[in-house]
Amino acid sequence: MGKTKNILVLLFIFAFVISVALMILHTTKVANEKKISETDIVLIELPDDLSEGESLITESGCMICHQDSSKSVGPSWDAINERYKGDLTQILNLTMKVKNGGKGQWGEIAMTNHSHLKSDDIQLMIAWILSRKSNESDPKK
Ligand code: HEC
Repeated sequence: MGKTKNILVLLFIFAFVISVALMILHTTKVANEKKISETDIVLIELPDDLSEGESLITESGCMICHQDSSKSVGPSWDAINERYKGDLTQILNLTMKVKNGGKGQWGEIAMTNHSHLKSDDIQLMIAWILSRKSNESDPKK
């Protein structure tokens, strides 16, 4: 009887060790996830109505670090729009930046990576940012 119990305890410990090992492996794999490069992105044809880009931005948590007109953790949409003004050739560059994350263009704070988001969706978000108008209240408008 005691022997069976010992075997069960050993089996339990074995299963536990295996699960911990798998968890560690998974975490390392996610951390090492390969950064995408230009050739991994296929440019989409942009729709006339870019409002889906705005909804995607709201749904994807971008507003945690970005605001319409004032700087927060990251630059405001207005500031980004001002820098890359309507230049849709920047979509590739900026889609990669959002996917991979990174710092250096606006300061030393890094944007987290968004490797879980689809490139097609990010392109719509960038296109919306690059074509949005400043708020009515903005004196520059
Ligand atoms: C954890 C905070 C954080 C989140 C979440 C975040 N950003 Fe950023 N973002 C930043 C920071 C910080 C920078 C400035 C990076 C730099 O200096 O190069 C930035 C920069 C950018 C830029 C300009 C990049 C450049 O190279 O000029 C764009 C475009 C952008 N973010 C879009 C997005 C979008 C779209 C999302 C949502 C999918 C998002 N960000 C989510 C923090 C964030």
